[in-house]
Amino acid sequence: MPIETTAWVVAEVRDDAELLAVPYASDLEPAHAVELHLPVRDLLAHYEAKGEAGEIVEVPVARAGGVGRVVLYGVGDRSPRALRKAGAALSRRAKGKDTLTVVAPEGDLAAFAEAALLAAYSFKIGNAGNKKSVRKLAFAGAAIDELEAAVRRAETVAQAVALARDLANMPSSVKNPAWLAERAAETGVPVRVWDEEQLQADGFGGILAVGRGSASPPRLIQLSYTPAEPTDRHVVLVGKGITFDSGGLSLKPTDNMKFQKTDMAGGAVVIAVLGALARLGAPVRVTGLVAAAENMPSGTAQRPSDVIKHYGGRTVEVLNTDAEGRLVLADALAYADAVLDPDAVVDIATLTGAITVALGRNVGALYASDDVLAKQLLDAAESADDRLWRMPLIEDYTPALESSIADLANVEAGSRFGAGSITAALFLREFAGRRPWAHLDIAGVGRSTVDEGTLTKGATGFGVRVLLEWLTHS
Ligand code: BES
Ligand code: MN
Ligand code: ZN
Repeated sequence: MPIETTAWVVAEVRDDAELLAVPYASDLEPAHAVELHLPVRDLLAHYEAKGEAGEIVEVPVARAGGVGRVVLYGVGDRSPRALRKAGAALSRRAKGKDTLTVVAPEGDLAAFAEAALLAAYSFKIGNAGNKKSVRKLAFAGAAIDELEAAVRRAETVAQAVALARDLANMPSSVKNPAWLAERAAETGVPVRVWDEEQLQADGFGGILAVGRGSASPPRLIQLSYTPAEPTDRHVVLVGKGITFDSGGLSLKPTDNMKFQKTDMAGGAVVIAVLGALARLGAPVRVTGLVAAAENMPSGTAQRPSDVIKHYGGRTVEVLNTDAEGRLVLADALAYADAVLDPDAVVDIATLTGAITVALGRNVGALYASDDVLAKQLLDAAESADDRLWRMPLIEDYTPALESSIADLANVEAGSRFGAGSITAALFLREFAGRRPWAHLDIAGVGRSTVDEGTLTKGATGFGVRVLLEWLTHS
C-alpha cells in the first residue's frame, strides 16, 4: 500500500488566484501594501477584528468570470509563535481549495510556511475522508526570491514531519519491522539492515527477545548520512521501532492497546530526519539506528522472569514484557557506544505512559547526561516549536532496577520508587556508555487526540523539527 501524502509545491503567483490571503496586525491595516480595491479598514472594523494571530476575516470579491475570496489573516505580534498560529489557521481555512496564494507576512516566513504545511497534513486510506487539504501554497509579493530559501527549508522540514506521521499512522497489519526497513531504504541514504540471523550472530539479545513472540521477525536498521564537506563530528540517533506494542505476555488492556501502532514513532522520526539532512545541508555526520520489533504474546514470546543478554553481554531480568522499548533501545545504545564512536547519542522513544502524567500532551521530556547537549537541544526545541522540558536523572532511584539474578531488572519489582519515566531513563543510561547522551520520552506528544493548529489527529512527527534544527543550526 503506498503512502498517501499531500503534494506541497511553492508555485508562482497568479493574480487570478482562487484564494488570496493578506496579513494584517492590530493597527487593522494590511501589513503589506496590496492593490485590493477593498475598504479593508472598514471591513476589519465591521467584523471587530483585533489583529490577533489565528484570526481570519473572509471577504468575497468580484473577479473576472465569477467570485473570488480574499482572506485577511491576523499576524498578532509577528513572533514566530504568532506566525505559526496564523499559518496553521489559514491553511485550515483553505481546505478544499487547490491553491492558497499568500501575501507573505513580515517576520519568520519559514515558521509561517512550515505551520501552514503541517496543518494541511492528512492521512487517509483508500477514499476515506471528505475535504482535501490545499495542494499548493504560493507566496505572493515582490521579494519572493529572498523568501524562497526560507520556504524551501520549511517545505523540506514539513515533508520530513509528514513522512514520520505517515509511517506512524500506517496500520500495523502493513507496518512490520521488515516494512520499516524498506521505507528506510527509500530515504536515499545508505542503509544496513540486520535480519534475525544477523541479530543472533552479533548478540542483539534485547531486540530478539522482544520480537520473539511475533510472526514478523525483528530488524535493526542503520542509516548513514555523510555531509558533502568532510567533518569529524558524529552524532548517533536511536529510535524505538516497536511496530505494535500489545504488551506481550504482560498484555495491555484493550483501551490502551489500540493506540500502540504508533509505538515506532521515535523510529519514524529517525528515518525522516536522516532522509532530510542532505537537502538541508547538515554539516555533521549522522548515523540513525532504528530498533524494530513487534511486541506480541504467543507460544514463542518471552516470559516475565526470563533473563536476556544484551549487545555487549549485560544481562537483564525481564519482569514486565510491556517495558519492551528499553530492551530494544539498550541493544542499539550499547552498539552505538561500542562500535560507532559518536560524539553524542540521542535516543527518541514513546517509552512510558508515566511521562504523559508528568508533562501532558504538549511538551516532550528531555533527559541528558551532559549539560551542553541538554542546552543545545532545549534551544533547538524552543526555536523549532517541538517543546521540551528537561527532567532529572534522580540517582536515588537507581536501586529500583536492581535484580538478584541478573545485572539489571527492566522494571522496578515493587512500588517503592515509582517515577516510571525517570527509572526508564536510568535504565537506558546504563547502556549509553560515558558519551554525552540524551533521551527524549515522546509517549505523551507522539500522538495527538486533536486536530488543531499544526497538529493533526494521530501521529504528530514530534522530534523531527527539533532534531533537524539541532543538526543543521548548531
Ligand atoms: N509503548 C508503551 C508506552 C506508551 C504508553 C506509549 C501509552 C504511548 C502511549 C511502553 O512500551 C509501555 O508499555 N510502557 C509501560 C512501562 C511499564 C510496564 C513499566 C507503561 O508506561 O505502562
Ligand atoms: Mn510496552
Ligand atoms: Zn512500547
